[in-house]
Amino acid sequence: MCGIVGGVAERNISEILIEGLKRLEYRGYDSAGLALINHGQVLRERRVGKVVNLEEAVKSHQVAGTLGIAHTRWATHGKPTETNAHPHISGKVAVVHNGIIENYAELKADLQALGYVFSSQTDTEVVAHLVAEALKTADSLLVAVQSIVSKLKGAYALGIVHADYPDELITVREGSPLVIGVGIGENFIGSDQLALLPITNRFIYLEEGDIARLTRTSIEIYAHGTQAVQRPVKELDATVSNSSKGEYKHYMLKEIYEQPEALQQTISQALNGNALREDFLADAEVNFRNIEQIQIIACGTSYHAGMIAKYWAEQLIDVPCQVEIASEFRYRSPVIINRTLYVCISQSGETADTLAALRDTQKRAAAKGLNIATMTICNVATSSMVRETDHHLLTLAGPEIGVASTKAFTTQLAALMLLLLKIGQVKQRISAEQMTEITDALWHCPKVILDTLQHNAEILRLSELFVEKQHCLFLGRGTHFPIALEGALKLKEISYIHAEGYAAGELKHGPLALVDNDMPVVILAPQDDMLDKLKSNMEEVQARGGELFIFADEQSGITEKDRQHVVNIPSVNTWLAPIVYSIPVQLLSYHVAVLRGTDVDQPRNLAKSVTVE
Ligand code: G6P
Repeated sequence: MCGIVGGVAERNISEILIEGLKRLEYRGYDSAGLALINHGQVLRERRVGKVVNLEEAVKSHQVAGTLGIAHTRWATHGKPTETNAHPHISGKVAVVHNGIIENYAELKADLQALGYVFSSQTDTEVVAHLVAEALKTADSLLVAVQSIVSKLKGAYALGIVHADYPDELITVREGSPLVIGVGIGENFIGSDQLALLPITNRFIYLEEGDIARLTRTSIEIYAHGTQAVQRPVKELDATVSNSSKGEYKHYMLKEIYEQPEALQQTISQALNGNALREDFLADAEVNFRNIEQIQIIACGTSYHAGMIAKYWAEQLIDVPCQVEIASEFRYRSPVIINRTLYVCISQSGETADTLAALRDTQKRAAAKGLNIATMTICNVATSSMVRETDHHLLTLAGPEIGVASTKAFTTQLAALMLLLLKIGQVKQRISAEQMTEITDALWHCPKVILDTLQHNAEILRLSELFVEKQHCLFLGRGTHFPIALEGALKLKEISYIHAEGYAAGELKHGPLALVDNDMPVVILAPQDDMLDKLKSNMEEVQARGGELFIFADEQSGITEKDRQHVVNIPSVNTWLAPIVYSIPVQLLSYHVAVLRGTDVDQPRNLAKSVTVE
């Protein structure tokens, strides 16, 4: 969702900016643009659609410069047109922006009264005019920016350049992610470090409210806009930088196949044989002993992971657990309860609603003097959520580029189980037998997933039967109800087929009315004590002419028959079955999307990291 890249160097940086935008494509966008400063002029190119369109324009018009900013825009205010694409310009000022300026309408009215003419429908353009106006009295670009940020309400990351300041890039972080990439004799900014990995592995992570002034040889940072501070430079290791597609046609497929290894990594950080490592979440033990319940907050796929954890927490360690979508939680004034562990689950650690829900919870707990603890389960060690919670547990999945989350989801599940084992151990609510059973199953999980991936060709064949369909139902029970929701989400996200996930027990309460000859129904049928009930649901679908696609435990006794397709999934420990049953629904969605010719890694209208509400 909106990507920013910028830089100041001795060499021409147009290609670096374009490469950076390409590396941010996964975030989702609908137009792209850049502005370079060259001999006292702002040179700007903008194009609707993919970054390659912009790249061609930059090449054919030979746009070059040693200072510049670039942007991929995900339309919020105003349609995805060239005039709404960033950068926005006011005289010699050019601005790129990620986030939303909530009070832009009143700022716009004030600026119009001063004679400024707006050429776009965006909220961003006010920033360019505000800086231009401030420069009438301020004695530097930095001072001008410092003087206007207090007028902006909302969330924003900004990159600002001016034609008369050829060695100066100003950047602001307030509620939207932004990193500085530290080079040698050149410096850069990016919405995330992935954008800058080809040029540096040294990063400074700005804090909320920071304004920075970058030149080729210096980086000045001002906390709360004006207080000079030093922020540490962090070096990223090579494994984090591994983000190419390799032999795979799409990132999503690569990431599906990376799951055994990703799980192995996530599990290894916590377990030593059948025991939890002594240092695993050691700093959280006091809090875990104290808490009486868990509240999970998340969005999208991460929310589905949380739903599964709820089943686990209550059944396995007898700890009450609630889970709620962050965009609801943050606005309904929930009662913040003493001795609760608030857990954010987020691949990116930057999702606007989850972050806002966390901050709001912290504020309200502090105001009431409540004793709560906060924790993040996250894939990005340097993210805002990791930095702002008391404790964190990383999913070591490596960068996930495909918009549809795959390996982040299954590693979230593994991390959640590890967290519950730890809480269970601290609270003495888990027996030695259970600990052995589950840790054995966790270690075994990568192998079961490898075996499940062997069914890829079979799933590809079945996916051909979905290509012409308009609708699809996914059914599961218990911990496989969230997997049904996740399967439906995956299918709709990337193939654009309307899909719904249901708890199979709810079939008679509505969805059965939709079942006819044209309705494929995907069933998740692990070997558990709900299997017989699920078989009855399958009968109900068949009796109405529905076509069944069943992912069933190889011991389940469910066999192929007319309009009943079965893929045998290797037997797996019941606790961890939802991790394994994620794989066939991911593969099914992937193949259907490829056959329908959609943009699998960057589905229309969606973004990987939703950093605005
Ligand atoms: C977007 C992504 C999803 C993701 C959700 C939550 O919708 O497309 O894949 O599940 O955001 O993101 P988070 O980074 O907080 O897990």
